[in-house]
Amino acid sequence: MIFRKFLKQDAQAVSDLITLTLRTSNSKDYSPEYLENDIQRLQPDDIAGRAEGQHFYVAEEDGEIIGCGAIGSYWGKEDESSLFTIFVHPDYQGRGIGRKIIETLEQDELALRAKRIEIPASITALPFYLKMGYTYKNGKAVIDEEQLYRLEKYRDSTSKQENVMVGDRKELAEQIYQVMLQRRSYRGKYRAEKVPRDKLEMIMEAGLAAPSGCNKQTTSLIAVDDPNVLKEVLAVIDPPIAVTAPAIICVLTRRINAYRDRCFAVQDYSAAIENMLLMISALGYASCWYEGHITDTDRIGDKIAKVLHVPDGYELVCLLPVGRPEGEARAPKKMKLEERAWFNRPEPDETIR
Ligand SMILES: Cc1cc2nc3c(=O)[nH]c(=O)nc-3n(C[C@H](O)[C@H](O)[C@H](O)COP(=O)(O)O)c2cc1C
Repeated sequence: MIFRKFLKQDAQAVSDLITLTLRTSNSKDYSPEYLENDIQRLQPDDIAGRAEGQHFYVAEEDGEIIGCGAIGSYWGKEDESSLFTIFVHPDYQGRGIGRKIIETLEQDELALRAKRIEIPASITALPFYLKMGYTYKNGKAVIDEEQLYRLEKYRDSTSKQENVMVGDRKELAEQIYQVMLQRRSYRGKYRAEKVPRDKLEMIMEAGLAAPSGCNKQTTSLIAVDDPNVLKEVLAVIDPPIAVTAPAIICVLTRRINAYRDRCFAVQDYSAAIENMLLMISALGYASCWYEGHITDTDRIGDKIAKVLHVPDGYELVCLLPVGRPEGEARAPKKMKLEERAWFNRPEPDETIR
């Protein structure tokens, strides 16, 4: 495979590649009207026009164009650039071509001179760009009126530090805080809507990013999204739970000591579970921490482990359904902050519950 600069005669092939990719890969996240409107704006003449104002690259294999991407100045600025029109042929996705396109663009002179690079990201490509080190612009994880996320990357961390203002951090903290407050245990029906693999990966990555005692990383995960395997798992859960969930994540632990006789496996998987629950909520899905149910004396967790061929040494301790909720979660009553938290010392007559 080679990466080279776009030539005028590539316009038709690039336009065809974009059309196919939008209709194939992006159709799970966007309506046909939205995609057809995009396709109309990315005809061969439009591509040739874009290539005049931007540095446009193509990835070619055996004479076929299988990927493309461009970089241009961000609204005419010399020290800010933007990436555009990044597509990989559906048959070639998952082979690192997208990564190579980004790396090629980031080595272009328009990237090297820029302090900041922006990407208007589709819902479909969002997890990929986040993996490539781009973060939400100004910390705002919001979709705009064009149904795109605005992402950005600073060329070095010092310029990022300079540019991230206190207000932006406040907004990010506010969003995280809202996700934490709004997360609820959901035990209702789920919509019959598949959870894309990249979302499941994002949730599991969030879980595995959690701290662990002495970094022993005692937690492992299995996501089940195959309807046949799901059916087998649900068949051993009695009384039933998560019956309509399109995916579940099973949490496994290895009860090994962190040091001396201190085992932090419970703390490790609890931290991982909470990270996953927060990510599930942030993505608009619902879940519930099912642990009591599957670790009780009837040992449902062991039965699920058997169905999933979990190797010896791992214990299946929790099940998290993942899916779009059909209903609303019921908010349980929670004690107020002043009933459970204090500054310095509680007053002598205060009860610590
Ligand atoms: C260790 C642990 C085990 C739990 N096990 C179950 C369970 O087996 N079944 C269930 O319906 N909920 C279970 N939950 C969820 C709690 O019931 C729930 O978090 C609590 O009622 C507070 O509601 P909230 O999550 O909406 O804040 C568990 C939660 C934790 C932390």
